[in-house]
Amino acid sequence: MEGNAEASAAGAAVGFDEGWYGAALGAFFAMTVLMFVIVNFFISAPYGRHVRRGWGFGVAVREAWIIMESPALFVMALVYHTGQFHSLHVPHILLRLHQMHYIHRTLIFPFRMRADGKAMPVSVVAAGFLFNVFNSYLQARWISHYGTYPTPWLSSPQFLLGALLFFGGFAGNIWADNVLLNLRSDKEDRSYKIPRGFLYEYVSCPNYFCEVVEWLGWAIMTNSLAGFAFFVATLANLGPRAKAHHQWYYKKFSDYPRSRKALTPFIY
Ligand SMILES: NC(=O)c1ccc[n+]([C@@H]2O[C@H](COP(=O)([O-])OP(=O)(O)OC[C@H]3O[C@@H](n4cnc5c(N)ncnc54)[C@H](OP(=O)(O)O)[C@@H]3O)[C@@H](O)[C@H]2O)c1
Repeated sequence: MEGNAEASAAGAAVGFDEGWYGAALGAFFAMTVLMFVIVNFFISAPYGRHVRRGWGFGVAVREAWIIMESPALFVMALVYHTGQFHSLHVPHILLRLHQMHYIHRTLIFPFRMRADGKAMPVSVVAAGFLFNVFNSYLQARWISHYGTYPTPWLSSPQFLLGALLFFGGFAGNIWADNVLLNLRSDKEDRSYKIPRGFLYEYVSCPNYFCEVVEWLGWAIMTNSLAGFAFFVATLANLGPRAKAHHQWYYKKFSDYPRSRKALTPFIY
C-alpha cells in the first residue's frame, strides 16, 4: 500500500497545482462538448474521404499522422516523469499500456497507410497536435501524480475488466484498420471499396468502435476522471465521424449492406 501512504502525504502539498489540474480537466470537458457540436452538426473533420479545400496547406498524410500523434509519446513521457509516483509499479504499467497504443499509432500505423500523394490540411494536424498535448498532460499527471494505485489494484476486478476492454479494443482496432489498409492494392491506389467480414458485417467503422472500447477500458482501469474525459472525447469525435463515413458509404455504393450500423453493433 505504499502508493496510498505517499499519496496522502503529498495531497496537502499540491493545493495550487490540484486547482489548476481541476480547471484543466473542466476545460477539456468543455472543449469536448464544443468539438462534438461542431463535428456532429456542422462539419466533418476535413481529412481522409472528407478532405476539402479551405483548411490550410496540405501536409503529407504520413508525416501529418506522426506530427499529430507524437505528443502522446513525448508529452506523456515528460509529464509522467515529473509525477511524485512515477517510479511506482502500477503507474508504470499504465504508462506502458498508453505507450503501446501510441507507439503503434505514431510510428507504425502511418507507415502502413496506402496514402502516397495524399495530404491532410495543416489546421487538422494542428488541432490533433494540440488535443494530444492537452490530453497527454491530463493522463500523465493523473497516473503518476494524483492517482493512487497500490500494487493490489492490479488484481482488482475493476482493473482486470478495464484491461480486458483495453486489450480487446487495441487488438480489434488494429485488425479493423488492417482490413481497410488491405483494401488498396498498392501505395498509390486511392480507391475506396466496401470492407467485409466479422465486425464489418455489423458496423461501417469497427476501427472506431474498437478505439472507443479501448479508451473505455482505460477509463475503467485508471478509475479516473481524466480517463473518463479521454473516453468521452474519443466517443464525441469518432461517433459523428462514423456517422459521416456511414452516410458516405450509402451514397458511394448502391449495393452497400443496409443492415450495418455506423459505430455500435445493433444500436447506432
Ligand atoms: N482517439 C481518437 O479520438 C481518434 C481520432 C481519429 C482517429 N483515430 C484512430 O486512427 C485510425 C485512423 O483513423 P481514420 O479517421 O483515418 O480512419 P479511416 O477513415 O477509417 O481510415 C483508415 C485508413 O484506411 C483507409 N480506408 C478507409 N476506408 C477505406 C475503404 N473503404 N477503402 C479503402 N481504404 C479505406 C483510409 O484512407 P483515406 O485516408 O484515403 O480515406 C486510411 O488510410 C483509426 O484506428 C482511428 O480509430 C483515433
